[in-house]
Order: sequence, then structure tokens, then C-alpha cells
Amino acid sequence: MTDQDLHEQAKAAAACAYAPYSKFLVGAAVLLRDGRVVTGVNVENASYPLGMCAERCALARAVAEGSRPGDVEAIAVTASPCGGCRQWILEFGAERVVFMHAGKLLVRRPDELLPDSFQL
Ligand code: THU
Repeated sequence: MTDQDLHEQAKAAAACAYAPYSKFLVGAAVLLRDGRVVTGVNVENASYPLGMCAERCALARAVAEGSRPGDVEAIAVTASPCGGCRQWILEFGAERVVFMHAGKLLVRRPDELLPDSFQL
């Protein structure tokens, strides 16, 4: 699975996003070390702050299916990850974050996206 292929899966997933308020559809695809791919979408709510980002949706699905930090090889997303999602991605120990920014497909390490991060 190339990073481009993973990003294509994120793009395909975005079609299922529930974003009636922003109309901004986001898809994410998590590549697990065992080769499985788990997708997620943004899920908005009339009470706006309760909305869920696509990356957290995908990571939460992976956890519900038994994954833990360290099991994630890469995550692709159709938007630049927000600050909160960068913290989540860092916790799951992904090697690569693949995302579109300014028309380019970027590949970054989580610690590049969130340097000097909070740790317990
Ligand atoms: N969004 C994501 O799904 N992921 C991000 O990292 C950035 C923002 C969603 C949240 C909201 O539903 C919409 O994009 C507009 O902010």
C-alpha cells in the first residue's frame, strides 16, 4: 500500500462524511501494521463543539477493533490535520501522516506536525 493509495482511500471515505453545517467533507484512512485499513469521516452535530474529526473517527474505530498505540503505521487525511488530531496521531505512534495541503500531497512525521508536544 503506497501513501498515495492510502490517501485515495481517505478520499473515497469522505463521501460518507456527515457535515451538514460546514459542508466540508473530510475522510481519513489509518494503515495498521498488519495491513488492515480503517477509515473515518467527520461527523458534525447541531451542537457544534460535539462534532468529530475524520482522523479521530478512524483512530477510534481502530481502537474499537482492538488496535492500540504502536499498531498504526500511517494515517492519510484529505485535509491538514487540526491541532487536536495532531495530538491524537502522535499518541498512536504513526510513522507517517499523509495529507493534502495547498494542493500538494505532503508526508510528515507526527513530531514534525506537533513539536515539543505534551506528554504525561
Ligand atoms: N475536520 C476534520 O475532520 N479533521 C481535521 O483535522 C480538521 C477539521 C472537520 C471538522 C469539521 O467537521 C469540518 O472539518 C470543518 O472544520
